[in-house]
Amino acid sequence: MNNTYSFIGGAHGPWRVDGMQAVTGAGLDAVACLDVVNAPPAQLHNKGTWLLHGFTSNVRYAVRDEVNALKGIQQGLNRPASTCAALIPIKKTAAWWALAQDERRAIFEAQSHHTAIGLEYLPAIARQLHHCRDLGEPFDFLTWFEFAPQDTPAFNHMLVRLRASKEWTYVEREVDIRLSKRA
Ligand code: HEM
Repeated sequence: MNNTYSFIGGAHGPWRVDGMQAVTGAGLDAVACLDVVNAPPAQLHNKGTWLLHGFTSNVRYAVRDEVNALKGIQQGLNRPASTCAALIPIKKTAAWWALAQDERRAIFEAQSHHTAIGLEYLPAIARQLHHCRDLGEPFDFLTWFEFAPQDTPAFNHMLVRLRASKEWTYVEREVDIRLSKRA
């Protein structure tokens, strides 16, 4: 199974870039379109203006009750009504990575309520987390979200809440890229 995904910012692709915001740290070069390809960079012909890649993986922090709650309510990507998307690459600080797993979990959920907050916005928002820290990439995670246009305010509200959390004090780079599906 190929669990590697390449996100190619450039002049081509099914997603039109509506906006790019450097939330924390350096942004990315402005591009018109984004392509998402289920393949590693070595297999790509078009490498675009910038290319980020990551892989889907098993959960690290979610406990059984949370996994069950997520599975019970979440919906998959590629829903016809999901004509909006967001790619939010995130890099966390050295201080975060120096913590032990139990300390990170405590900040992530007990103190920041990441999953509890996120669950409130399901199933309207569909999500996929990609890991890339161990690939030597500029970011640690490539987070991907799909939703219908009318759910954009709810998505923005969730972001305000997550960015105000203790977890986000460990985010040193974050770029918020908003997309809409080209006709
Ligand atoms: C849509 C609602 C959301 C839900 C239900 C949700 C849920 C989760 C869960 C359960 C995990 C832990 C996965 C694991 O156990 O390894 C996670 C990780 C993560 N989420 Fe979310 N999330 C949501 C929204 C967001 C948003 C909007 C962002 C970014 C702006 C985000 C960024 C991340 C990141 C970076 C991680 C990895 C954290 C780490 O491993 O240090 N999530 N999310």
